[in-house]
Amino acid sequence: MRNSSRSDIDPFIVMDVMEAARAAEATGQSVIHMEVGQPGTPAPAAARTALARALDTPLGYTVALGVPELREGIARLYQRWYGIDLNPDRVVVTAGSSAAFLLAFTALFDAGERVGVAEPGYPSYRQILRALSLEPVGLPTHAAEGHRLQPDAVRAADIAGAIVASPNNPTGTMLGHEGLAGLVEACQSQGRAFISDEIYHGLHYGARAVSALEVSDEVYVINSFSKYFSMTGWRLGWMVVPQDHVRRIERLAQNMFICAPHAAQIAAIGALSGEAEAELEGNRAVYAENRRIVTEALTAMGLTHFAPPDGAFYVYVDVSHLSSDTLALSREILSTAGVAVTPGLDFDALRGGGMLRLSYARATRDVAEGMSRLAVFFNARQPLRA
Ligand SMILES: Cc1ncc(COP(=O)(O)O)c(C=O)c1O
Repeated sequence: MRNSSRSDIDPFIVMDVMEAARAAEATGQSVIHMEVGQPGTPAPAAARTALARALDTPLGYTVALGVPELREGIARLYQRWYGIDLNPDRVVVTAGSSAAFLLAFTALFDAGERVGVAEPGYPSYRQILRALSLEPVGLPTHAAEGHRLQPDAVRAADIAGAIVASPNNPTGTMLGHEGLAGLVEACQSQGRAFISDEIYHGLHYGARAVSALEVSDEVYVINSFSKYFSMTGWRLGWMVVPQDHVRRIERLAQNMFICAPHAAQIAAIGALSGEAEAELEGNRAVYAENRRIVTEALTAMGLTHFAPPDGAFYVYVDVSHLSSDTLALSREILSTAGVAVTPGLDFDALRGGGMLRLSYARATRDVAEGMSRLAVFFNARQPLRA
């Protein structure tokens, strides 16, 4: 059977690691999951209650842009989090931020155009761009600058736009107002599109994250219920677009998806209610403790080359003195130490071979156990600490 060259994309390695971890567990091996970027907690109780109340109603298609009450709830979140007065008409509800990428890339770029992606960064940007016949252009960031993309790198690149996540996956590092404004300006001054992936907003351990909407209305902002709201499998996200792009996105969303899952939209209205706040902030306190355990344990192991994470639930650590093939190393860690971790190649095809990403999204007990196992593994193999 024939096939297209644009579907010739790389696998999402972390999904392959998850499968290897599942297979190891199926043979009875105990595995601590530090590979996957998803909370171990359920959706907030208020979300589950809202859905339970609606289960006997038809839950059919919704309008393509999403249930109005949810769009209004999302707009109010911008007031609560950033003090922004956002018109709910500009909010588009999507099937996870993943569907938002498809809509955004399709709405903003023509086939063959080049789009800047910060590296290391979320791998699916590159693969989705390729699948849409667009060309991803890696814009390298550096640990010494906290992996913050620099406006000059954007200005110098021959691109039609750029997508940037803050807090970033895999590094957890964040752009401040000035850093973000510099990137938006670097794009806008050259007529390029700026897409801000804000999926880890709400998960910060010092200052809160800055939204690109605090800088400009002429940007695309993508967010999701997956991370802060602990609803990965519900497949619900959203996008905020400039007013004059709403109809364009609506046409695409109608035809590509009809609508985002209705049941998840009902649950999300509950997740945005005041009732859910204490529970979600409780989750954040757990991540903060996990972050402390992970960073202190890495330091104690002599693995000190990582940028301190400002948000999200990841740390991206340099182990290149031990291995230049962390794909093989992560397999060895899984089989000998029983800890699933993600190799850096997923996030940076050129420089990720000596890097590992650890996720600390799970329960504190598991994270502490994972770090003890990693300490045994790494202490056995490195003559590191002075
Ligand atoms: C930076 C970033 N953006 C988007 C996603 C995808 O999220 P969603 O579940 O909303 O599709 C992830 C998932 O890990 C991510 O890390």
